[in-house]
Amino acid sequence: MSKRYAGITGTGHYVPEYVLTNQELETIVDTNDEWIRTRTGIRERRILKDKDKATSFMATRAAEEVLERTGTDPKEIDVIIVATVTPDYMFPATACLVQKNIGATRAYAFDMLAACSGFLFALTTGSNMIESGRAQKVLVIGADKMSSIVDYTDRNTCILFGDGAGAVLLEAFEEETGVIDYVHYTDGDDQCLLYQPAGGSKRPASHETVDLHLHSLRQDGRPVFKKATEGMADVSAEIMKRNNLTGEDVDWLVPHQANLRIISATANRMGLDPSKVMINIDKYGNTTAATIPLCLCEWSDRLSKGDKLVLTAFGGGLTWGATYVKWSV
Ligand code: COA
Repeated sequence: MSKRYAGITGTGHYVPEYVLTNQELETIVDTNDEWIRTRTGIRERRILKDKDKATSFMATRAAEEVLERTGTDPKEIDVIIVATVTPDYMFPATACLVQKNIGATRAYAFDMLAACSGFLFALTTGSNMIESGRAQKVLVIGADKMSSIVDYTDRNTCILFGDGAGAVLLEAFEEETGVIDYVHYTDGDDQCLLYQPAGGSKRPASHETVDLHLHSLRQDGRPVFKKATEGMADVSAEIMKRNNLTGEDVDWLVPHQANLRIISATANRMGLDPSKVMINIDKYGNTTAATIPLCLCEWSDRLSKGDKLVLTAFGGGLTWGATYVKWSV
């Protein structure tokens, strides 16, 4: 069998209607618009207010959009992977709920947890399935309802995160296109720099864990900032070197949207003109697994077949990586 490639043939997204502005946050915690904008680049973020709706709702809407835009029958989908740290339930997987909602009756479905690197790792998994010949069409979704695990009394973290979902459809190609190469890393030594202390099997929910706010995410911002800046810049430079790419060759940088200063440092290191960097952190904040597919969807009209994209992310775990994609449509 000749080598197969996994190309991205379409994108979809969903963001909730409710806009949580920096000005509204000023009324909730001791912060101010100027501090948030200059330290992070964030002006506002979207929040899924409806108590009955969760991550699967947003993931389903993103999936429906990509199916519609590509004219794909859900029964053609072989695999659904949802990257998330905020699943509807501990189990079943959010991907199973999406599978039911969209009527992908032939697909098997599972979640992937790699925090802010979740979408990249899921993209790698999905593309490997296609390259192996075992799958023809794979839906890869990044979706997070971060508002469900954010402590809105903690000014260090509550200003950073928002809710949203993005999806891509991967399909098999004979020509060299789609996911060309990837470099992924993990460093479990620093697992507690960014994590959700309770709710898992180590500290199941109890009165004490609730009283201590241990079901909300915790982040030691300064070291995470330093490691994220180094990690994203280094891994992006590494993937460029492996593929003989210069800043001139790369058409788009698609960075995880955690902090505008981290994004700028990565673009600088790659020798990239700022006009080639996808940035929407100002509107959505950090939507964890959704940031990269949200960017791909928002920029999809400006992408042409053959465009060279470097996707890069850094997140809890610690996890980080970069993926080199040639746009397929
Ligand atoms: N409003 C106003 N002041 C705030 C604040 C807020 N929301 N949050 C923190 N501060 C204060 C701090 O208390 C501190 O005050 P002090 O000097 O009197 O102690 C001061 O601002 C500086 O805090 P510091 O944490 O050093 O700020 P920073 O420049 O590192 O920015 C982050 C904080 C969170 C924006 C930054 O560390 C960051 O982006 N970290 C990484 C995020 C990330 O990449 N996440 C992981 C990948 S998903």
